[in-house]
Amino acid sequence: MIDLHSHILFGLDDGASELDISIEMARIAVADGITHMACTPHVQEGVYPNDWATIRPVLEVLQQALRELRIPLTLFCGAEAHLAWDLPERLLRGDIPTLNDSRYFLLELPHLVVPPRLQDFVLRLKDAGFIPVITHPERLSWAERRPELLVKIAELGCPLQLTADSLLGRFGMTAQAQAASFVDAGLLVFVASDAHSPRARAPRMSAAMKLVASRWGEETAQRMFIEIPQIILSDGMLPDAARQHLLPRRPMTSGSGVGRLLTLLRAGL
Ligand SMILES: [Fe+2]
Repeated sequence: MIDLHSHILFGLDDGASELDISIEMARIAVADGITHMACTPHVQEGVYPNDWATIRPVLEVLQQALRELRIPLTLFCGAEAHLAWDLPERLLRGDIPTLNDSRYFLLELPHLVVPPRLQDFVLRLKDAGFIPVITHPERLSWAERRPELLVKIAELGCPLQLTADSLLGRFGMTAQAQAASFVDAGLLVFVASDAHSPRARAPRMSAAMKLVASRWGEETAQRMFIEIPQIILSDGMLPDAARQHLLPRRPMTSGSGVGRLLTLLRAGL
């Protein structure tokens, strides 16, 4: 499996605090079947003031440690950039690492408030040559009320990254149902761990992959855990999966946000 979202780099954010923790997380990931991992520390002004200058040296230290310890986990650069209006300019200047230096980068939206003019912002990013990958949309508190906004963003070609633990219900029933609704709706989604530590939020995805395979089929699981992440890492063109099949393969669970998303999709928003 390929994990495109992790806070495995030590000392940069609320993820691993020291090298030994990063190494422990790498061992857990390998044991779970993860072979490739993007290191994506938070970048948020005033909170996590990271950029290439802070991220590169830590990435190199961890890569060297994994080589010496013969831990077979291939690391890639990246960052989880919090929404900020100067992001297009910072990306163009090369301040913020994208996923393996591709056009794709992780974009974290505000959790509590609906970001104003989000579509305009995404278009500005695309004009600058970048494609934002929206991190854990299922955990945004406004996602249930405004699912159509996320659908519109997906239709602009932005992949949605679901969190393995959300699919397993570890972020609550609402996040679990929202995550399932995005898969059911046929949006361009894939899964990552968003690992923060060896324990509470560990770098494991195999249980979620089994769940996806049993609920949506092996092909969908392969696509969400391997193929889409692979295309992103190799800077390839993603399939236009948005709204390819609007009807769920299995009956939807009821729930206001989930039901509303499908209703909106069927009605053409
Ligand atoms: Fe994260």
